[in-house]
Amino acid sequence: KGVEVLFEISEKKKLAQDVYSVWVEAPKIAAHAQPGQFVIVIAEEDGERIPLTIVDKTEDNIRLIFQVVGKSTRKMATFENGDSFAHVVGPLGSPSEIDYYGTVLLIGGGIGVAPILPILKALKEKGNRVISIMGARTADLLILEDEFSQFSDKLIITTDDGSKGMKGLVTDGMKKVVSDGEEIDKAWAIGPVIMMKFATKTAQELGFPIIVSLNPIMVDGTGMCGGCRVTVGDNVKFACVDGPEFEGELVEWDELLKRLGQYKVEEKSSLEEKKK
Ligand code: FES
Repeated sequence: KGVEVLFEISEKKKLAQDVYSVWVEAPKIAAHAQPGQFVIVIAEEDGERIPLTIVDKTEDNIRLIFQVVGKSTRKMATFENGDSFAHVVGPLGSPSEIDYYGTVLLIGGGIGVAPILPILKALKEKGNRVISIMGARTADLLILEDEFSQFSDKLIITTDDGSKGMKGLVTDGMKKVVSDGEEIDKAWAIGPVIMMKFATKTAQELGFPIIVSLNPIMVDGTGMCGGCRVTVGDNVKFACVDGPEFEGELVEWDELLKRLGQYKVEEKSSLEEKKK
């Protein structure tokens, strides 16, 4: 002992193809982190900034889950237990509004189930009845099923191809929950933008409020790249500074999808490629 090693990795696990979970030693961040907040990881000196939700924490460690989408996240995936990230900065972003609402519905799509988990746990601890929907393209891509079943009063799994659970989309799961007689007081959805758009539309039809987290659109998490710009109500917001959570019905989904379709893919890959 004697030498303090910060940001050391332990319990690295592969959760699915290209999806990894790590615990990272970060006592100061762990002491302050609240559900809904994120950190910026810089894996190597001068590396890119990768914003990641704090999925869980102990006294000294935080759990992060990431998907390999480019050069920097590919590098991160090569780190093994005992290695350390160069920097981890946070906690950042506004915390989720955790309260007693009654019956809450938590909807996660793809890798979006990871940022849903801390919100789900906190809502359960507040005494809410928690219903969860996890959606994935196929059974192989489902992650965190054990954690979700542990903290949910009811869990619905949907897959696009029917390889596990209900065949269909998370919106089909939402309709089923209501047709089964549940009365939802408030919902949260995190996943691909197109999924959050339709989850919002479905929640409006079914008559309950829904919060979405726009952390999937963040690029560097600093408030400067503009990658997470979005119109909410009549205002331009930045997900990493003003969010990441917003009321789903106030988000200008079509404008966001159009902008992401045009720029996002290039933006993300060029940012990640730029770093040699
Ligand atoms: Fe770059 Fe928000 S992620 S400004």
